[in-house]
Amino acid sequence: MIRQLVYISSVKGDPGAINPDAILHVSRRNNARSGVTGLLYYDGRRFLQALEGEVEAVERLYRHIATDPRHHALVILSDRMVVAREFGNWAMGHARDGEDRAVLIGRIGRLAAKASPAVRATFESFAGLKRLF
Ligand SMILES: Cc1cc2nc3c(=O)[nH]c(=O)nc-3n(C[C@H](O)[C@H](O)[C@H](O)COP(=O)(O)O)c2cc1C
Repeated sequence: MIRQLVYISSVKGDPGAINPDAILHVSRRNNARSGVTGLLYYDGRRFLQALEGEVEAVERLYRHIATDPRHHALVILSDRMVVAREFGNWAMGHARDGEDRAVLIGRIGRLAAKASPAVRATFESFAGLKRLF
């Protein structure tokens, strides 16, 4: 079984100072080592991240990310066990072409559909996503 944790957070300080590619670069390198995969979506103001992997590896990574001064107000939307990884590889909707973006939105939509009403409402209020559901 795979632990799948999804959270949102808000950029702390100037959004212009955020370099999503730099975050992705470091994440891919570190996560490859710990067997964690997932998705990182950035809309210019908020992050939505899904982490999938071994229970303790996801725990350690989430705790580490939570201390990053580039964001704050982390809210866990979903934390559950899944039989297989649902987010195969890292993707960044913000910087992707139409096809990848559609796949990404589809995945987020499916995840939201399974979530509780409160979690779904949070997903749907995520900037730029609502109109795509
Ligand atoms: C929204 C967000 C998501 C992040 N996701 C990851 C991640 O999945 N894996 C990772 O190693 N670092 C991630 N980081 C970066 C870490 O917080 C940290 O900067 C990085 O792991 C380097 O840590 P170190 O300086 O202690 O080596 C993320 C940062 C932010 C702001």
